Amino acid sequence: ESVTKGSHDHYMRKEIHEQSNALRECLRDRFSTGDSVSLDAIEDGYRPESVHLVACGTSYHAALYGAKLLRKRGIQAQAHLASEYALSPPPVRDGALVVGVTQSGETADTLSALRTATAEGARTLALTNVVDSTAARECDDALYIRSGPEISVAATKTFASQLVTLVLFALQSSGQTSDETERLVSALTELPEHVQRLLETTAAPTTARRFADSSGYFFIGRGVQYPVALEGALKMKEITYEHAEGFAAGELKHGPLALVTEDTPVFVSVVGDDETARKTVANAKEVKARGAPLVAVTDGVSSIDRFADEVLTIPRTNRTLAPILVNVQYQLLAYHTADHLGRDIDKPRNLAKSVTVE
Ligand code: AGP
Repeated sequence: ESVTKGSHDHYMRKEIHEQSNALRECLRDRFSTGDSVSLDAIEDGYRPESVHLVACGTSYHAALYGAKLLRKRGIQAQAHLASEYALSPPPVRDGALVVGVTQSGETADTLSALRTATAEGARTLALTNVVDSTAARECDDALYIRSGPEISVAATKTFASQLVTLVLFALQSSGQTSDETERLVSALTELPEHVQRLLETTAAPTTARRFADSSGYFFIGRGVQYPVALEGALKMKEITYEHAEGFAAGELKHGPLALVTEDTPVFVSVVGDDETARKTVANAKEVKARGAPLVAVTDGVSSIDRFADEVLTIPRTNRTLAPILVNVQYQLLAYHTADHLGRDIDKPRNLAKSVTVE
């Protein structure tokens, strides 16, 4: 089936706008009864003792998020850069599961890490978008993210679907039910609409134009917001060719703060007003005190909007899912900055959609 850009100038823009439908598809028929998750790829009642997630690039950022979720639900979990995994693989104990997070299912580094895991005796699972890809065929099981074809080199809708699939995977693997689980499941069902509303109301094009001639871009976040700080920066550097870095908000004062100037906007995501949010707000104030323009991506609950130079709003949702909405704003920022700079958005220089060499 051929895929066209439709009314969009670029595949990337089209794919950003396909996200709410992609998430609907990702969530379809995943709940057996009430808030109990049922994933065809994994038998009901299967509880891994420990999980290693192996991945590259954007998929690695999804893996970092997945590992945080699994640990929160009592499962030992770590994300590994696939290209580093085979050099010092963690011991594979009984009940270990190694999950390859890979949109294409063809990334050489990820396939190699999965083969190492198989040789060590681990059970393997491919979390992928492409049915019958090499990862799907070689792993013991395949869990599909159901995003549909993604043409632009920059991964967008598939990242959102990876995160949602990892939420479902964490829910099923832990088997826990609680009020928290119920709230999370209910928020999942509302997520596609929240993405749609954000796309219709975003101020990202204006913010992108305002800062398009900056000398660098920094992204900070704490907890589940940290992987999207890394992803926001990757998207920005990948398609704008400008310098961008993502940091854990708490790490700024340990070095990166020296990079901050009035010509380096800092993007910070703050959701809710709990201790994590308040600590992030304190980190953002440090940045502002050094003269950097501050852009807050927020649900408007904390005090961050009062001193940020610009605010990009996201709909209120469960805190675990908020990074998905924050990331849509980051995708749009990168897209509109690259568009303003006249870059080759769908095919950035030196990059390939699927990297089949190690
Ligand atoms: C991100 O925009 C890139 N396309 C890249 O980092 C990508 O996520 C990475 O190469 C891994 O690809 P995969 O998910 O197909 O394994």
